Amino acid sequence: MKLVFIGPPGVGKGTYAQAVSQRFQIPHISTGDIFREEVKRGSELGRKVQYYLERGLLVPDEIVVEVVKARLSQDDCRRGFILDGFPRTLAQAEALEGFAPPDLVLNFVADDSVIVERLSGRRVCSKCGAIYHVKYMPPRFPGTCDKCGAPLVVRKDDRPEVIAERLALYREQFSPIISYYERRGKLVTISANAQAPEVIPVVISTIERFLRGRGQL
Ligand code: AP5
Repeated sequence: MKLVFIGPPGVGKGTYAQAVSQRFQIPHISTGDIFREEVKRGSELGRKVQYYLERGLLVPDEIVVEVVKARLSQDDCRRGFILDGFPRTLAQAEALEGFAPPDLVLNFVADDSVIVERLSGRRVCSKCGAIYHVKYMPPRFPGTCDKCGAPLVVRKDDRPEVIAERLALYREQFSPIISYYERRGKLVTISANAQAPEVIPVVISTIERFLRGRGQL
């Protein structure tokens, strides 16, 4: 099953993808996580994308498409995958349709005030990438990852001025992608204003319904 999660920054794509990945045993592939990891490693790709990441700008299409193509060709993607953060432009959506057309695209929506609060309180594990929120999903011990014990950090693009830039960019870029998948009958929109424990079961049941409809569950 090939899934794509789209929606504004901070709507919770990564949080829901972690749960879906566990439930259906398919990998969660976040282009943002891949790029942040490369920046941390100081690789050539990391040096190329660092400028864009820190300012909340989009990494050029040709770089992103190559990275995703290479990742999807790995063995663990044979049964499917969840793409989180890709595609983000029409050119990326068209490229994906060519090499791994998604079966289902979940479009998460939430109010701007909710999104800003989520991003300002987000903390991520510096080692395994697990996602927390100081108020809504706090770790057992403040500042420490429940899963691997590494320190939690604030993402550089979660500063207020960068959040505003990312939201503006999202609004500008996304409506053609939404129409693109609507026209193909692949899009389901899910409201993500509620707390994660309420949203996650809706996401899972939407996917189960889809699979049942295809006789795959
Ligand atoms: P990326 O990492 O993809 O960032 P994003 O799309 O901006 O999404 P986020 O990771 O910020 O948000 P999310 O929706 O996953 O929310 P989360 O689950 O963490 O991209 C980063 C950068 O990489 C881009 O700016 C760009 O430079 C580059 N890039 C990546 N892909 C690219 C592409 N395809 N093309 C070009 N450039 C690309 O949740 C947020 C917070 O809210 C967390 O603290 C969480 O605990 C909390 N939370 C989540 N859900 C709920 C809920 N329902 N209730 C309460 N709290 C919640």
